[in-house]
Amino acid sequence: MKDSITAQIFGRAYQHACEFRDAVSDRVPRPIISPEALCAAFDGPTPEVSEDPVAVIDALNAAAVPGLTGSVGPRFFGWVIGASQPVGVAADMLTSVWGQNAALYACSPAAAMAEKVAARWLLDILRLPGESSVGFVTGATMASFVCLAAARTAVLARVGWDVETDGLVGAPAVRLFVGQDTHVTILAALRYLGFGNRATRVPCDSQGRMDAAALSALLSEGGGPAIVVAQAGQINTGAFDPAGAIANACRRHGAWLHVDGAFGLWARLVPEMNELTVGLEQADSWSTDGHKWLQLPYDSGFAIVRDASAHRRAMAMSASYLPPANEGEYDPGQFVPELSRRARGFPVWAQLRAMGRQGLTNLVRTHCALARRLAQRLAAEKGVQVINEVVLNQIIVRFGTGSVDECDALTRATVAQLQTDNICLAGGADWRGLSVLRVSVIAAPLTEADIDRLAAAVLAAWRRVQA
Ligand SMILES: Cc1ncc(COP(=O)(O)O)c(C=O)c1O
Repeated sequence: MKDSITAQIFGRAYQHACEFRDAVSDRVPRPIISPEALCAAFDGPTPEVSEDPVAVIDALNAAAVPGLTGSVGPRFFGWVIGASQPVGVAADMLTSVWGQNAALYACSPAAAMAEKVAARWLLDILRLPGESSVGFVTGATMASFVCLAAARTAVLARVGWDVETDGLVGAPAVRLFVGQDTHVTILAALRYLGFGNRATRVPCDSQGRMDAAALSALLSEGGGPAIVVAQAGQINTGAFDPAGAIANACRRHGAWLHVDGAFGLWARLVPEMNELTVGLEQADSWSTDGHKWLQLPYDSGFAIVRDASAHRRAMAMSASYLPPANEGEYDPGQFVPELSRRARGFPVWAQLRAMGRQGLTNLVRTHCALARRLAQRLAAEKGVQVINEVVLNQIIVRFGTGSVDECDALTRATVAQLQTDNICLAGGADWRGLSVLRVSVIAAPLTEADIDRLAAAVLAAWRRVQA
C-alpha cells in the first residue's frame, strides 16, 4: 500500500532527524557557513504557488543543517545549553503531531492532565513544597516574570492594594533587592512588570554569592512591601546564594523571596550538594528550566509558586467562551501568561519517566564531576588559572601571568583561537571586569573522553596564542 502524503512528509522528517542526530558527534560545533551563504540558502521570491511538501521538507533540511550549531552534541560547552535527549524530542514531536492547545482542560484533557502530573513529579524531585502551583512556560526568563508577577500581586495585597484592578500607578512602592551578580533576565522581568531598573543591588562575594547580612541591613532600613531575588547557580561561576540566611532575613522583614534556579535548582537532586542547596525550599517562588539540566528540547521552563492563589490571581483570565474547569479537571493556562499554548507537559512527563530521579541525579552529579576534572586539567598548565570555585558545572578561566590588560588580551585571543579551531565550542565573557573563557558542562551525554578532548582543545588554543 502506498504511504499517505502525511506518512511521506513525516517519514522524510524522521529520516532527516535520525541523520542529524547520528552524525552530530562528528560535526564541528560552530557552523562555518557565512551569514550571506546561509541567508541565500533560505532566500528566494515570496512563494506564490504550492510546492510538493516532501520536497519542501528536504529543502528546509538542506538550507538549515549547514547553519546549525552542534549544541545537541558532545563538543558544545557554550552558554548554558542542554543537549535535548531523544525521548524528550520524540515526545515533543508527538506534541506537535497531536496539535493540542493546552490552555484549558476543555481544549485538551490529556495535555492538562499530563501537565498536572508532571508538575507534581517536578515538585517532588526538586523537593519543593507540594502545595505549590507550576506554570509551564517557555524558559527561565518567562518563569521569573510569572513568579515575580505573583510576588507583586501578593506583597501589594498584604498592604491592601489590588494590582490586578488598580495597576501600579499610585500603588505603594515595592522595594526590590537583587544580587549584584543577578542574571540579566531578572532585571528584564522586573522591567516587564513595571518596576523599571529600580532594584537595589545587594553586594556579593568574589563568587557572586549574595551577602545575606548586607541584605538584612538593607531590608531593615525601611518597611512596606519587598521582593528579594536570590539565585541558585550564577551564570558564570555556578555559585549559590546562601539561601537559608536570605530566607531568614526575608521572613523577619516580611519580604517575598524568589529564587532564580534556571539550572542550579537541579543540584537539589544530589545529596552531596545539600550544603549548597539547603534553604532554597524556604523561598516563596522558584524559576527553572526544562531545556537545561532536564535535557528537554526548547522551549521549556517552570514557574513554581508556593502561594497558588497569588499565582493564579496574577495570571488567570476568563471569558464566556472559555469554559472553566469542572470538578476534577485542571486548567494549566491559569498559571501562565499565554492563552493558546503548546502542550509542554507531554515532553516533561516523558523525560521524567525516562530518566527517573535516579538518572537525573546521576546526570547532574556526573556533569559536576566532569567540570572538576576539566578544572584540574586546565589548572595544571602554566599560565592557566581557573578563577572560580568549581562548585557546580560552570568554569571560568583566564590565561597569562602578566598585567590585567595582558591577561585580558591573551584570554580573548585564546577564546577566539578555540572558536577558530572549532574542535569544541566555549565562549567568552567578562567576570568582575576581567575577560574569561566560560565553560558550561551541561549537555547530555558527556563522558570523561569528551572533557579530555575539550581540555586538549583549550590548551592547544592557548599554546598557539603563546606561540
Ligand atoms: C541563572 C539563569 N537565569 C535565567 C536564565 C534565562 O533562562 P532562559 O534563557 O531559559 O529564559 C539563564 C539562562 O542561561 C540562567 O543561566
